[in-house]
Amino acid sequence: MKRCHPGSIRDAAARSVERPDPGRPERQNRKEAEVDPIELLMTEHRLIERALDAMDAWITTLSPESEADDKEELARFVSFIRGFADAYHHGKEEDILFVAMVDHGFPREVGPIPVMLREHDMGRSLVGVLDGLAKQPATWSEQDRETLARTVREFSALLRQHIQKEDQILYPMADTRLPEPVKEEMSRRFQAFEEQQSSSGEHQRLHTLADALIKAHTP
Ligand SMILES: [Fe+2]
Ligand SMILES: [Fe+2]
Repeated sequence: MKRCHPGSIRDAAARSVERPDPGRPERQNRKEAEVDPIELLMTEHRLIERALDAMDAWITTLSPESEADDKEELARFVSFIRGFADAYHHGKEEDILFVAMVDHGFPREVGPIPVMLREHDMGRSLVGVLDGLAKQPATWSEQDRETLARTVREFSALLRQHIQKEDQILYPMADTRLPEPVKEEMSRRFQAFEEQQSSSGEHQRLHTLADALIKAHTP
């Protein structure tokens, strides 16, 4: 599958402008304005992984003297994770992709979809711990710092293995088994979702935040 760099859905759409070729799979002959929805989700995974790289690096540099700054930076990571990885990316998976998969024969109660949903919830719970530490009025104790480091490592490992399972198992299954018109409808819904976010400025805010975190902390 062709992959693209992180960017807006319109950027991805611009890259996808290709003339129909009867020798290529139908999926790749998508209309000009449409984006391969599976490719878009994989592109978002790459941005999430880069933010996790930044957070993993950041957690190794914390010093006991700089707590005010640390809380501020933790709040920025939490804001990106909740806004992009959860509301934006997991939101599209849960409200659009997984629903389409269940509608086309994937079981809701067993198999990969409930596992993915459970892992989304586990991630939310860990991010809740991080959010609590970021907002904690009291100075972080030694135990708080240990909780912070452990929770960041646990969250990062959880999300990385989750992404790997989606990239290597769930998405290819969806790509193979969902009918082409369903994927086209998914693409349109993803675009509508993005346009809604763009008009509110949230999409730009999250990408700017990701860029800043990656630039500040990636070795
Ligand atoms: Fe997911
Ligand atoms: Fe995902």
